[in-house]
Amino acid sequence: MPKPRVYCSHELFEEARKILEITCDVEYWTQAERPPREEVLRRVKDKEGLVCLLTEKVDEGLLRAAPKLRIAANVAVGFDNIDVAACTKRGVVATNTPGVLDETTADFAWTLLMAVARRLGEGEQLARSGNWKGWNLDQLCGADIWGKTLGIVGFGRIGRAVARRALGFNMKVIYTDAVRAPEDAEKQVNATFQDMNTLLAEADFISLHVPLLAETQGLFDAPKFFRMKRTAFLINTSRGPVVDEAALVAALESKKIAGAALDVYENEPFIHPGLKRPNVVLAPHLASASLETRTKMAVMAANNVVSLFQGQMPPNMVNPSVLKKS
Ligand code: DGY
Repeated sequence: MPKPRVYCSHELFEEARKILEITCDVEYWTQAERPPREEVLRRVKDKEGLVCLLTEKVDEGLLRAAPKLRIAANVAVGFDNIDVAACTKRGVVATNTPGVLDETTADFAWTLLMAVARRLGEGEQLARSGNWKGWNLDQLCGADIWGKTLGIVGFGRIGRAVARRALGFNMKVIYTDAVRAPEDAEKQVNATFQDMNTLLAEADFISLHVPLLAETQGLFDAPKFFRMKRTAFLINTSRGPVVDEAALVAALESKKIAGAALDVYENEPFIHPGLKRPNVVLAPHLASASLETRTKMAVMAANNVVSLFQGQMPPNMVNPSVLKKS
């Protein structure tokens, strides 16, 4: 029996390749740049499986171009690049990589939080510039973190992991979410549920951890920035479009908030020029980028594909109804 044909829009790590290649006949995109859309459409034509990154849109157009496709395995937990309804309609399984990147992403949210509070970007530039004249009393004074209030928007696995780290900083942690978490989850990280407006008014640091959905698109807009403290910082490691970037730039320009630290952007890889200011820390979508975690993500995606072709239910389906129906 011929092996099912799979297209990977990125060369996977060796551990993942080994898993995939036992069961499947795999073709990889091996160039450093992301593949152009036309190239992806051309390559998926005769494939039954696709392993893709969040940079590939799995939409009606791609599904039409890939009539044999049975699975689209995203190497990411967020799957806003996949039109799940269109996949379901065509009987294509869609999967993601939940769980394995929570702690790494939380570490990075904290990296950003600390960098923006303590002006690390500016300090690093000064240290490298050759212009540093030595210690000075009022040089690059930032904001304390210890003992402040952390506001978490989206209290899922990653939001909770971010909250847990705040215990070591003796912070007050408040969170908001569409649904209040069970009491024991709150207790574990000493977090208190608040409505959005209270969180905006009280938090010194606001960290975003919601998925990108119709309801969260542009969630952080001008009225939200208006309600934040002038001394507060926004940290975003979720998805760029959760923040209205033009409104954020306006809030920064008018000193409505103290600063921001961003890993994600509305139109990646474009970064709004108004964000390139000293009180904004900018990272190129790196939150899950530890070698250990990215390897686990790739392995998970490979396992999802292999399970399907071995006649099992892929462990991380985002549209399980596709297989339940048949
Ligand atoms: C995800 O998994 O959704 C991240 O944005 C990339 O790790």
